[in-house]
Amino acid sequence: MSFQERIRQKKGKEKIIMLTAYDFQMARILARTGIDLILVGDSLAMVVQGRSDTKSVTMSDMIYHIKAAARGAENTPIIGDLPRDSCNSVEDGLRNAKLFIKAGAHGVKIEGKKAEVIKALASGGIPVMGHIGMLPQTAESYHVKGKKPEEAEQILQDARALDRLGVFSMVLECIPEDLAKMITETVDVPTIGIGAGKYCDGQVLVTNDMLGFDDDFKPKYVKVYANFNKATKDAVSKFIEEVFEGKFPDDEHTYH
Ligand code: KIV
Repeated sequence: MSFQERIRQKKGKEKIIMLTAYDFQMARILARTGIDLILVGDSLAMVVQGRSDTKSVTMSDMIYHIKAAARGAENTPIIGDLPRDSCNSVEDGLRNAKLFIKAGAHGVKIEGKKAEVIKALASGGIPVMGHIGMLPQTAESYHVKGKKPEEAEQILQDARALDRLGVFSMVLECIPEDLAKMITETVDVPTIGIGAGKYCDGQVLVTNDMLGFDDDFKPKYVKVYANFNKATKDAVSKFIEEVFEGKFPDDEHTYH
């Protein structure tokens, strides 16, 4: 059975877990936890590159990180995030999706309702994950989408359209829980929420966010499960102290 079929079959039965990884070590750790999918997201713009948004990520940035993550992902399928402007035409979409697959991805994620591209990729055998709601690649500012009735209706229509176009799942980003519930009950494919409440078929977070790497970034939808910022600072302070005091390297860590 293909990975996308396995994901589809979980709908309504078992929650789907997806997390981001951009490098070998994190992909390997995540793979060994048994999560369903690893997303090489264009969030690497903020997490790895220190940019303020995802708008300037390039295909070569993405391919570099897909290759690195693929070396660690073992048997966990990797989804590569097609960056802004990489799939504005069917030709571009097909070419760039194939480059992702060659780099080690098993499927691609496409932000927004790029109907012709999604249809061409899905019917050409490339697994496509949709992404609707708040769309960081084009958003002017990051805030919840779908609070106004007409906006909610549009997002619901987009979800239905993606379902018909052949996506194997779709990310719902930063929309009210009721709307995410309605979409989840309406579409045939699994919904994977980020800031979309508990009724989605699965959940995704940026791994660095849920591990607490960035003290300054704590949006409402992120639950911080560990404090790697503090753990790293504490470990480095201890290292500095021990080097200064002549306690490191000790005999155990020295060649004779
Ligand atoms: O780039 C990313 O990490 C994403 C997730 C937030 C879904 O698109």
